[in-house]
Amino acid sequence: MPCLYSLKPFNTLGLEQSCFSLVEAKSKGELVAHCSAVWQAKQPLLVLGGGSNVVLTDDFNGTVIRVLSKGIKLTEDEANFYLEVEAGENWHELVEYSLSNNIPGLENLALIPGTVGASPIQNIGAYGVELCDICDWVEYLDLASGDLKRLKSSDCEFAYRESIFKGKLRDKAVISAVGFCLSKHWQPKISYGPLQSLDSKTVTAREIFDTVCKVRSEKLPDPAVLGNAGSFFKNPIIKAEQYIRLTQRFPTIVGYAQKNGDVKLAAGWLIEQAGLKGFVLGNAAVHDKQALVLVNKGGATGKDICRLALHVIAKVNEVFGVLLEAEPRIIGTAGEGHLDV
Ligand code: FAD
Ligand code: EPU
Repeated sequence: MPCLYSLKPFNTLGLEQSCFSLVEAKSKGELVAHCSAVWQAKQPLLVLGGGSNVVLTDDFNGTVIRVLSKGIKLTEDEANFYLEVEAGENWHELVEYSLSNNIPGLENLALIPGTVGASPIQNIGAYGVELCDICDWVEYLDLASGDLKRLKSSDCEFAYRESIFKGKLRDKAVISAVGFCLSKHWQPKISYGPLQSLDSKTVTAREIFDTVCKVRSEKLPDPAVLGNAGSFFKNPIIKAEQYIRLTQRFPTIVGYAQKNGDVKLAAGWLIEQAGLKGFVLGNAAVHDKQALVLVNKGGATGKDICRLALHVIAKVNEVFGVLLEAEPRIIGTAGEGHLDV
């Protein structure tokens, strides 16, 4: 089948792949109808939000449905504000909306690209807050039955960059709306590195928002200027014993203790120390300011990006004996694939 519609404008790595059919879902009803039709026709289906966490390695031989459904409903009781948000709302615009309505709680998650509908999938997180801290429920279309279902946050199996939507419900669910519960007894979260200089007694949500925006703009490349998908690798979580052995060989290694005693390593540090910051392979490169980000210098293919990622994984494993895992989803001709395309 010829692939007719370019996906280049719809993925932040700026990869030049196409798809056979491209559909816009501008309401929840359209999202349900289009997704159900493609599912029933047993054709390959790719649901796309902002395209900021995908690597397209081939033309997609099926239907891409862009989620553009909008709507925010705000309610409150004595203790909390509640937001019910359609999947196609832009994440950062939701953060701005909440602050302009004097609802704090989302400020640490400012400037994360993409849609609200994608936010539960990898349980987005930044600057000490994860989606699971503020998510109340997730509504999704169960493709097999055609029904809309609602999962409480506690049933979403949220973990670091993980959820049920990447696990049991992968390829079975299309998120249609997300509910948020934001406490009226707001506590600032300023323990993450660059936020520690803020004064916990006087700080406002707006100040946290401004600081996060400033730090992110300095560190992370703007996809409109330099194609990227944010952090390309998850920060690896290792056992405390392995961490202690590593600190003996690499005293400046960066690690964060987890509640269960494991340690999360800063993958950016590992990649930089392995000598790969700024490393170029064809038109793909390790970003020269943030080694956790892979960039498209112009004209790179998804396969080029995957080749570079495999090189980084091999080198970091050789130097530290630690295996990195890709964060973005690798999308091939008919669905999700692997780095070794
Ligand atoms: P897409 O890339 O469109 O989709 C990602 C995956 O989710 C695909 O598999 C897609 O099929 C699926 N999907 C999308 N929408 C739906 C839906 N409604 N229902 C079912 N499946 C769906 N992430 C963080 O966690 N923290 C960060 O700080 C962060 N910073 C970033 C900075 C930059 C510059 C960039 C480019 C990315 C960053 N990311 C970060 C990654 C990315 O922004 C998030 O993963 C975001 O949630 C992806 O949203 P999206 O709408 O672009 O998803
Ligand atoms: N570091 C280096 N060299 C580098 C990059 C980082 O030594 O080239 C060190 C830093 O000095 C710091 C540590 O690594 O000590 C952590 O760096 P940073 O605070 O920039 O965070 P990160 O681990 O690189 C993670 C998330 C980001 C999120 C930020 C802020 C992952 C995979 N990435 O990045 O999320 O915005 O923390 O919370 O967890 C994303 O998922 O796409 C993303 C951008």
